[in-house]
Amino acid sequence: MNPEDGTIRRALCPGSFDPVTNGHIDIISRCAKLYDEVVVAVFVNQSKSSVFTVEERLEMLTEGTAEYPNVTIDTFQGLVVDYCKVHDIPVIVKGLRAVSDFDYELQMAQMNRGLAGVDTLFMPTNPEYSFLASSLVKEIAKWGGDVSSLVPPTVLTRLKERTSAG
Ligand code: PNS
Repeated sequence: MNPEDGTIRRALCPGSFDPVTNGHIDIISRCAKLYDEVVVAVFVNQSKSSVFTVEERLEMLTEGTAEYPNVTIDTFQGLVVDYCKVHDIPVIVKGLRAVSDFDYELQMAQMNRGLAGVDTLFMPTNPEYSFLASSLVKEIAKWGGDVSSLVPPTVLTRLKERTSAG
């Protein structure tokens, strides 16, 4: 809580989360220590094909963040800044894995600030997860590789179900 005016400090962690990885959970959990409330929002992108439905992604996020009481899970379609406005969230928190993430993230951050005055804070990813991406997890799992150290147990179970279902 902001001691000056008693307002709740809220932050948004937006993403595709197809599926959520331990890298995401690391950022979300650190964010949960810094803010009173953290909203993790799954962006519905109809032009991007996904492996998991939005409902499945929401369930995996809910299960994977169950130990953080100030984290809530939601979904949105449209501009992230509009979501922020409606839910009174002044800041977006993004994890940065490497310099390669920076250019695009900076562009989006500056656009979002210009569009609606919503700030973005970049959090360096834990080096343990600097190589981790949902796309790689899906690729490895598809060919039977071991991703147990890369995703929460709930995601592992669902990936195995997908693989065994062919
Ligand atoms: O996990 P991702 O796919 O890297 O997440 C990207 C996401 C969803 C955070 C980003 O594409 C986004 O914010 N999309 C919402 C639409 C929007 O506001 N676009 C303009 C950004 S300047």
